[in-house]
Amino acid sequence: MSQAKSKLFTPFRLGDIELKNRVVMAPLTRNRASRGTDAPNDLNVEYYRQRAGAGLIVTEGTQISQQGQGYVWTPGMYSDAQIAGWRKITDAVHADGGKIIAQLWHVGRVSHVSLQPGQGAPVAPSPLQAKTKTYIESGFTEVSAPRELALSEIPAIIGDFVKAAENAKAAGFDGVEIHGAHGYLIDQFLRDDSNKRTDAYGGSIENRVRFALEVVEAVAKVFGKGRVGIRISPVSPANDARDSDPQALFTHLVTRLNDTGIAFIHVVEGATRDARDYLPFDYKALRQAFKGAYIANNSFNRDLAIETIENGDADAVAFGRLFIANPDLVERLEAGAPLNEPDVATFYGGDAKGYTDYPFLTEKAA
Ligand SMILES: Cc1cc2nc3c(=O)[nH]c(=O)nc-3n(C[C@H](O)[C@H](O)[C@H](O)COP(=O)(O)O)c2cc1C
Repeated sequence: MSQAKSKLFTPFRLGDIELKNRVVMAPLTRNRASRGTDAPNDLNVEYYRQRAGAGLIVTEGTQISQQGQGYVWTPGMYSDAQIAGWRKITDAVHADGGKIIAQLWHVGRVSHVSLQPGQGAPVAPSPLQAKTKTYIESGFTEVSAPRELALSEIPAIIGDFVKAAENAKAAGFDGVEIHGAHGYLIDQFLRDDSNKRTDAYGGSIENRVRFALEVVEAVAKVFGKGRVGIRISPVSPANDARDSDPQALFTHLVTRLNDTGIAFIHVVEGATRDARDYLPFDYKALRQAFKGAYIANNSFNRDLAIETIENGDADAVAFGRLFIANPDLVERLEAGAPLNEPDVATFYGGDAKGYTDYPFLTEKAA
C-alpha cells in the first residue's frame, strides 16, 4: 500500500490497556500444557513470545478449576505451578512489547468424567447432555452426561473465577477475558436451550444473564473494570449452543454489562470457524448497545479486517487460525505479504510441530 497506513495498524486504548495495533490474537486451545500439572511450559513460552507482535494476545482458554476443565492438557489458572508457568509467558510477551490477557474458562457440561475431580459428572445449569465431543487422552469422544448445579454451588464457582483472576494478576497478565462463548458454562446459563432452571438463574432473560453478570462483576473487582472483557458468540452453534432469541438475549446482556463498565466485548460473529452469516444477527446494533470497545472475530481476512476498522464496525479484529500459522501476522498483514496455511492436524496436542515451527517472513524476527 502506498497510501497512509490503515487504522488497523494504529494504536488503540482498550479500557486501561494500551495496544500498539488493533490486531488481536484470538484465544486458541492447543492442548500442549505440561502433562500432570496442566502448567504452561517452555514450549508454550516460545509460542506466545513469537506472537508478541499482536496488539493484544488473548490466551487459550485456561480452566479456573479442575471442575472447569473439558479437554486434556489445557492449562489451568488455579495452582502455583500454573501461575509460575504463566509468569514466564507474560514476562516474555512484555519483554517483546506485547500485551496479554488470560481467557478464564469453565466448560460446564462440555467435559468428560476422566477430567473431573473424583471422576464425577461434569456440572451444568440443567442435567442436559450436549451433542458435542471433547478431546481426552485417547482422542475425541462424546461428552459425559452432566448433573445439575445446586443453587448453593454457584457462589463457589464465582469464587473460582475470582481466585483465577487473582492468580492471573499475580502471574503478570494485563487483564482477563471471561469466556462467555461457545456453549461453555456461562453460555449454558445464558441460553434457554441449555438452561431450564426454575430458580433465580433460569427462566427469563433477566435471570439467565444473572450468572454471567455476577462473574463479570466479581472479576472486575479483582482487576479493575478497565482490564476485563467478555467473549460471546451470539449465534454460533459451537458445542450445541442454541437459543430461541439470541438478539434479545445478547442485547439485554450487553446493556446490563454497561452498568459494570467493563472494557470490551469480544464477539464471534456467525458460526465459529465457519460462515459469518450463519444465522441473521444485527452485530451493529449490538456494538451500538455496548458502551465499551468491540472486538470482532471470525473468518476475517486482511481486506475485511481493514474495512471493518475503517468503517468503525469494530475497534479491533481478532484472528485465530491465521495466528496459529503466522507468528508475525501483523507484519505480514501490514506488508500485504503472503500468509502461511494453518495445518489442522496439529491444532490440538503434540509438540513443536505446527506450533512453534511456522516460518517468519524475515530471518531477524525468527
Ligand atoms: C485450534 C483452535 C482452538 C480454539 N480455542 C479456543 C479457545 O480456547 N477459546 C475460544 O474462545 N475460542 C477458541 N477457538 C475459536 C477461535 O478463537 C476463533 O473464534 C475461531 O478460530 C474463528 O476465528 P478465525 O476465523 O480467525 O480462525 C479456537 C479455534 C481453533 C481453530
